Amino acid sequence: MNKERPYIIPFPKIFDPRGSLSFVEGGNHIPFQIARVYWIYDVPAGEARGSHSHIHNKSVIIAVGGSFTVHLSDGKRTESFTLNRPYEGLYVPTGYWRTLDNFSSGSVCMVLASHPYSEDDYIRDYNEFLTACENDDE
Ligand code: TYD
Repeated sequence: MNKERPYIIPFPKIFDPRGSLSFVEGGNHIPFQIARVYWIYDVPAGEARGSHSHIHNKSVIIAVGGSFTVHLSDGKRTESFTLNRPYEGLYVPTGYWRTLDNFSSGSVCMVLASHPYSEDDYIRDYNEFLTACENDDE
């Protein structure tokens, strides 16, 4: 199966002596309609977040402050993206196992999501994820 790949999306950035500004518009800069926004902050040093995959939900992950690393696995290969620019986002299609780590002090991870929160959309067991990948390949 030809899986959609993750990629970095550059956002508009407006530099100004008063400070910089970036923005996104649903259906314009983001390849899905935004149904939900959440953000992760106050992550203690050495902690990791994520460790799950989604069945339907797609995401764009933005380091609006500080930096962290996103590891994305399709069940065979893992690609890692260090995010540290508020003017870009990482598009995460369905079918990728994601883990986030290496959070810098004070960093903020903002996530734009294509679906409202539903626990039924999560795969949180890695072996279950691998089985889903194998079934996709058939
Ligand atoms: P969790 O999925 O464990 O966060 P991570 O992205 O690090 O894996 O979510 C933590 C808790 O927050 C869990 O009880 C589900 C809840 N939650 C919501 O209620 N709404 C949301 O939009 C999200 C992302 C999580």
